[in-house]
Amino acid sequence: MSHNTFGHLFRVTTWGESHGAALGCVVDGCPPGLPLTAADIQYWLNRRKPGTSRFVTQRREADEVKILSGVFEDDRTEGQITTGAPISLIIENTDQRSKDYDDIRDLYRPGHADYTYDAKYGMRDYRGGGRSSARETAARVAAGAVARRLLTDVTIRAAVVQIGKVAIDRAKWNWDETENNPFWCPDADTAKLWEALLDDARKDGNSVGAIVEVEATGVPAGWGAPIYGKLDAELAGALMSINAVKGVEIGAGFATAGLTGVENADEMRAGADRKPVFLSNAAGGVIGGISTGQPIVARIAIKPTSSILTPRRTIDRDGQNAEISTKGRHDPCVGIRGAPVAEAMMACVLADAMLRHRGQTGR
Ligand SMILES: Cc1cc2nc3c(=O)[nH]c(=O)nc-3n(C[C@H](O)[C@H](O)[C@H](O)COP(=O)(O)O)c2cc1C
Repeated sequence: MSHNTFGHLFRVTTWGESHGAALGCVVDGCPPGLPLTAADIQYWLNRRKPGTSRFVTQRREADEVKILSGVFEDDRTEGQITTGAPISLIIENTDQRSKDYDDIRDLYRPGHADYTYDAKYGMRDYRGGGRSSARETAARVAAGAVARRLLTDVTIRAAVVQIGKVAIDRAKWNWDETENNPFWCPDADTAKLWEALLDDARKDGNSVGAIVEVEATGVPAGWGAPIYGKLDAELAGALMSINAVKGVEIGAGFATAGLTGVENADEMRAGADRKPVFLSNAAGGVIGGISTGQPIVARIAIKPTSSILTPRRTIDRDGQNAEISTKGRHDPCVGIRGAPVAEAMMACVLADAMLRHRGQTGR
């Protein structure tokens, strides 16, 4: 199985399966001298880990990370720092319940990758979905934590802005609120509505989708590249690579098709330092593949969880018609735990862009 690596200068390879012994990543190309401890990484992993509320999977994983390589500390380093060598991170799986999957060993979950993995590889690890499980995204979040060490002047944060058909009221957006409810919701009133919506979905043996918005502020103008290295294209690819993501938009995204040129123009005024002050941000912080200095804004549409209790029609490995009802511990809305993953992918893409910008321009 190839294609487990992404990035150019800041290069991440993830490994491991849902019900294997462990999973992890190797971050190659991280510059030396950055402060980095397991606790720094753990902070971000704790935001993605399962079992934190009744609205996410009840799998109980501590998601405790160990740094196996790429760091060093002595009396001159003022704490543990990166050496420039590959940084290898490991997270053990401790709460697998592979028996939960016995019933669906030979059945394909509609919407999940069971059929396509079988079609491609002629076999699949059905225990938790193996490599297609979003357990893999823990490794992305760990890599994202390393990327954040490079991006000291950049703030990356995500919010869930829609669950099912219920969207937030953007006038009530308060970033602090995302830390006060189990949904990363920036609007306290909408978070209450989502509780009932998700309880109902779970009771009905069903699931719901979501939209996550991720933003990076503090990115200077000039990161990214034209043509085939466009920052928005790389961002879209990275976000689309997250499990269950079916749509990505940057800035005004699909709505730009309905805007006029007058409405879409991000007008500029001269700032005090002779740099532009933009009067709007339909571009989402990227023009011509290069950052404008405005916040970089992306939204991802995440489909409803495929593993649901409600019986669905399917076929088995022998091509016989069958019915499937998926038991086990699944997220009723994968978008919630998808928010920290979206932040991590944004961080990895931006760290890579930063290093390439520095490499090409010396700045
Ligand atoms: C954080 C997160 C958690 C997920 N948890 C589940 C889950 O519990 N059950 C499930 O069926 N899918 C879950 N998914 C989605 C599947 O991993 C995904 O749908 C599957 O790999 C097929 O790939 P695709 O949807 O990207 O095409 C999760 C996705 C994310 C981002």
